[in-house]
Amino acid sequence: MPEKTYESLYNWSIEQPQEFWKAQAQRLAWHKFPEKILDESGDYPQWFGDGELNLSELCLDKHIADGYGEDTALIYDSPVSQSKAKYSYNELRDLVAAFAGGLRELGLEPGDRAVIYMPMIPQAVVAMLACARLGVTHSVVFGGFAAHELAIRIDDCKPKVLITASAGIEIEKIIPYKVLVDAALEEAEFPPEKVVLYNRRLGVEHPERDYDVDFEELLKAEPVEPVMLKSTHPSYILYTSGTTGTPKGVVRDTGGYATVLHFSMQHVYGLKPREVFWAASDIGWVVGHSYIVYGPLLHRNTTVLFEGKPIRTPDARTFWRVIEEYKVSVMFTAPTAIRAIRKEDPEGAWIKKHDLSSLRFQFLAGERCDAATLEWLQGQLQKPVIDHWWQTESGWPMLANMAGHELLPIKAGSAGRPVCGFAFDILDEEGQVLPANAEGLLSIRTPLPPGCLMGLWENSERFKKSYFSQFEGYYSTGDGAYIDEEGYYFITGRVDDVINVAGHRLSTAEMEEVLAAHPAVAEVAVIGRACELKGQLPMAFVVWQGQEGRAESVLEKELVQLVRAKIGAVASLKEILPVERLPKTRSGKTLRRLLRDLVDQRPYKMPSTIDDPAVIPELQAKIQAYR
Ligand code: COA
Ligand code: AMP
Repeated sequence: MPEKTYESLYNWSIEQPQEFWKAQAQRLAWHKFPEKILDESGDYPQWFGDGELNLSELCLDKHIADGYGEDTALIYDSPVSQSKAKYSYNELRDLVAAFAGGLRELGLEPGDRAVIYMPMIPQAVVAMLACARLGVTHSVVFGGFAAHELAIRIDDCKPKVLITASAGIEIEKIIPYKVLVDAALEEAEFPPEKVVLYNRRLGVEHPERDYDVDFEELLKAEPVEPVMLKSTHPSYILYTSGTTGTPKGVVRDTGGYATVLHFSMQHVYGLKPREVFWAASDIGWVVGHSYIVYGPLLHRNTTVLFEGKPIRTPDARTFWRVIEEYKVSVMFTAPTAIRAIRKEDPEGAWIKKHDLSSLRFQFLAGERCDAATLEWLQGQLQKPVIDHWWQTESGWPMLANMAGHELLPIKAGSAGRPVCGFAFDILDEEGQVLPANAEGLLSIRTPLPPGCLMGLWENSERFKKSYFSQFEGYYSTGDGAYIDEEGYYFITGRVDDVINVAGHRLSTAEMEEVLAAHPAVAEVAVIGRACELKGQLPMAFVVWQGQEGRAESVLEKELVQLVRAKIGAVASLKEILPVERLPKTRSGKTLRRLLRDLVDQRPYKMPSTIDDPAVIPELQAKIQAYR
């Protein structure tokens, strides 16, 4: 590889993408190295199509064969259950190989699907890696989603098994996972044949079912060797929120994903093998897939699996305690977590009490990071705090300050510069490229680099329509942005109806669908209003169609409960605002952006298509009274 400033590496990746990615792929131990690097002859470009490899082998067996078996692969730290454990590569491989053997005994074969609905415990990582070992496509569902959401995902990917645990622990409550699973299976049209249950022995009651299989029994099976898979084999499906009520099943390949994760551990996060990396996220999100499980293990780093929150488990010192205790070199979290910590510890008293000398970089992502939060953290840590931007769809960072190179100056409020492989343009509604400082639609020239989504599970129509239909030759990110004169990108937020609550991506359309099903609701519009702690919070504007004598306050509680029951607590919908009518265009479309501007008290532009401008003062009065 020629040597390497950020600029030279980036330019190489754009000017000679095939040579560039071939060189990166050569750093992995493929079973069969691909002859074809990029194939654009089919419907959608494929990277490394004829290569063969196995993710679990590269994450575990390869390091053992190289003599690192006794290095620590995984540290489990759980303040909520007051337990800690360390797993060497040898130990983790043995568990994964045995569990994969157990899954095989249940009849799982390459190409079958397994849904994993588990809290942040080592058994969840074992389950993911065991699926990868067998070529079983996993779909991890975040624990904050309710039974109905789980059922939707089950029906979409039709798994042969579901792997779960008896319970999870939130700050002050127990989440009865197995009870939720049983409810989801009752609702699902295509339930799995078996449910593999890890009993955490937390005293949560759940009836035994015929389909239950004990996780620990499966570990007694004959261990299995990794199954060699095509580079384009779907390693996982991860559902994410789109602009309709139905989540999108993002499909990830195997070889492209392994290549970019390995590349990013070194070049984006600036890590050397053996160092400790901590992504304080959840395995139910893409950050968890890429940077709790696969990325660090592929790159032979120690990964931290943290079951807790930045505050109240037990207090705002938790993050700093973990960094000190395990000598974390690089950490990744969401800005919300930092805002929560700052609220509890504004002077950084806890930060000063801990030895954070091991920490080189603090990365932030998942939502927009306000300049004040970044500057506060940088001042407290006296280390580079790096905002970076990406999506479930990309699977790895697209904008960042690539810490594997000399850092570029940090600009608070900017998510950085393009990561190798990504060529951006900011486009207007007509697809014209906009100049510096003009806000528009953040778009990426195709073909996308390796590792990005291969499709949406069994829905090629939606795949094309969602991402490639707006502008010829571009992938539409769904985010707005502008670039300054120095080439730094500033993300201005989603341009669709997706919102971001505490770093969690949620669909307002989905909440609207649930609320509209309530008999008292005639019309509803959900928007994301600005929130100092969580970035955004959902707020529902509701027009009643007859209250049947029931108090508004009772109906409002019912609506809040409905969203909790159907979507899950993570939706965080607590604000219902009854109104006489919604603002509409003459063709009947709800003006959600106007609602958002009114709630956030931003100057709004009178939409030229508004049906009746008199609705605006009406709404302003309602919002004022609500406050
Ligand atoms: N399983 C079950 N329930 C969950 C859950 C999970 N894995 N995660 C969240 N929930 C529940 C919470 O218990 C809460 O329920 P409640 O309404 O009964 O209190 C609800 O979903 C909302 O959760 P959250 O938005 O996380 O709010 P919180 O008040 O519990 O915590 C923060 C606030 C800021 C501490 C927390 O949001 C946080 O740590 N954010 C960082 C998020 C992050 O890392 N995101 C990943 C993106 S990279
Ligand atoms: P997810 O697919 O859940 O990772 O969410 C991706 C979305 O989160 C992006 O499309 C952005 O809207 C938002 N997002 C993620 N990281 C950032 C960031 N650093 N700055 C601004 N928005 C972000």
